[in-house]
Amino acid sequence: MVDDQTDSPEETMDGLEVTACERCPALVESRSQIVNGDGPTDADVLFVGEGPGATEDAEGRPFVGRSGSVLEETLLEVGLEREHVRITNCVRCRPPENRDPRTGELANCRGYLETEIARLDPEIIVTLGKVPSEHLLERSVAVTKETGTVEEIRLDGSPRRVLICLHPAATLYNRSQLGAFRETLETAADLSGSDHSRRGGQSRLDGF
Ligand code: URA
Repeated sequence: MVDDQTDSPEETMDGLEVTACERCPALVESRSQIVNGDGPTDADVLFVGEGPGATEDAEGRPFVGRSGSVLEETLLEVGLEREHVRITNCVRCRPPENRDPRTGELANCRGYLETEIARLDPEIIVTLGKVPSEHLLERSVAVTKETGTVEEIRLDGSPRRVLICLHPAATLYNRSQLGAFRETLETAADLSGSDHSRRGGQSRLDGF
């Protein structure tokens, strides 16, 4: 069972970080710590994953396990270093046995995510996998088919661009997805409008 939301996000957030939260009893039980977003507070690109896994829970940072390595390496290939992007999750506490976050848990954490997005004000939000894509777009998403698609949503009255992307773990299960994953990150680099996106790898716009 999930508690009602009793606090406004601001009461338990410091800047972009949740400092204390006990809204989801099952997650409070299973977590070692709250895993907040990571990266600059003025980043142009915000990646949103599903929720922390075992490594993230132990280290207190999102995407530091095997999926994180794939993400980091592919970011470098498209010229977007991890240090220049922000990475967060739909829920900030590790679900037991890595199950998907439940609807009520996603709802409990939604205010934190929306506050993080509003304060960051990114050029582009990249949703990594089905859970964050469906959570933000509020529709069912066929991620393999729709990866690379940009959709505009309104959050708290502001327009936000969402780029649907495969979860990096998908490339570990199926190496043939790596190309589509890289292409979507290239799109993120192109849409970020950031100077960092031109530093390293080849941009899709180079040569035009
Ligand atoms: N997968 C996610 O969705 N988030 C993480 O932080 C790590 C793996």
